[in-house]
Amino acid sequence: MTVEQGQSAFITGGASGIGRALAVALACRGVHVTILDLNSDQGEEAVRLVEEEHARLSYKPSSPSAIFIRCDVTKSDELAAAFTRHHDVFGRLHICINSAGILTGAQPFHEHEEAWRKVIDLNLVAVINGTCKAIQAMKDHGGLILNISSVYAYVPSLNDPIYATSKAGVAMFTRSLATVGMGIRVNALCPEFVETPLFSGVPSFFLDYLRDKVGLVEMEKVVAAAFSIFDDENKVGECLSVPANRPTEVWPDEESKRKNQIFKKDGSIFAAGDFD
Ligand SMILES: NC(=O)c1ccc[n+]([C@@H]2O[C@H](COP(=O)([O-])OP(=O)(O)OC[C@H]3O[C@@H](n4cnc5c(N)ncnc54)[C@H](O)[C@@H]3O)[C@@H](O)[C@H]2O)c1
Repeated sequence: MTVEQGQSAFITGGASGIGRALAVALACRGVHVTILDLNSDQGEEAVRLVEEEHARLSYKPSSPSAIFIRCDVTKSDELAAAFTRHHDVFGRLHICINSAGILTGAQPFHEHEEAWRKVIDLNLVAVINGTCKAIQAMKDHGGLILNISSVYAYVPSLNDPIYATSKAGVAMFTRSLATVGMGIRVNALCPEFVETPLFSGVPSFFLDYLRDKVGLVEMEKVVAAAFSIFDDENKVGECLSVPANRPTEVWPDEESKRKNQIFKKDGSIFAAGDFD
């Protein structure tokens, strides 16, 4: 499946940043969107942006262009109810994007356990849950699932080990779903630093440092990377690295994948679920 007019997408964290940019970009292709977020004002604003894009198209949708659902995605019952509502409104789920995430700098050695568990609950557990619920919703007709991981899937974060752990988990979970089948393609994006409200909780010098010394990824590049996955039916269980100063590329590269394969005693490759 690739992206087509009239499909519907379900986007966690769709009120802001990367989730919102993807909602608007999908709307440009005539896709209907359910925005899930904690932030109602920005969620309603994202709905308006999607409606504006639909109004620009000659396409006249028969169902709403977009709906907002206030939902804490770490609460499984709220997330389940949101999937049901999406189905009730749009009849089917074609695309699920798990973008809701936080960056708190929670230090596991110095802070209360609750602080770092919150990061894992949102950035990893809710992504797993959202992916599983999306697979349930798509199992009869296929679909696209995009999980937003990070450069910290493969670069250690010396000052935020829990964030890096959550993102590495998202990447490996996604890669391990390469053979999920049912016409469902699960992939992940691993962007470097993108200027979004994600950084509002960290000291401003950090963002200044990134801007001046490291480089920031343009949002257009993140959106283009997402669509390169959506539009390529061969992309399954892949992570796409989106750096600021180099072209977007699949991670890990083919050589690393080959090097880290596990071989059976007969010399053939052992892959997950491959028992003969
Ligand atoms: N901005 C970056 O540099 C960058 C780089 C790599 C990966 N990412 C990842 O991309 C994703 C989106 O980040 P962003 O930069 O767009 O940040 P953002 O802060 O702009 O967007 C995140 C959204 O998630 C929502 N959210 C937070 N907790 C929630 C919850 N419990 N339930 C529902 N919604 C919740 C927030 O309200 C917000 O609207 C995150 O997973 C982030 O880790 C961001």
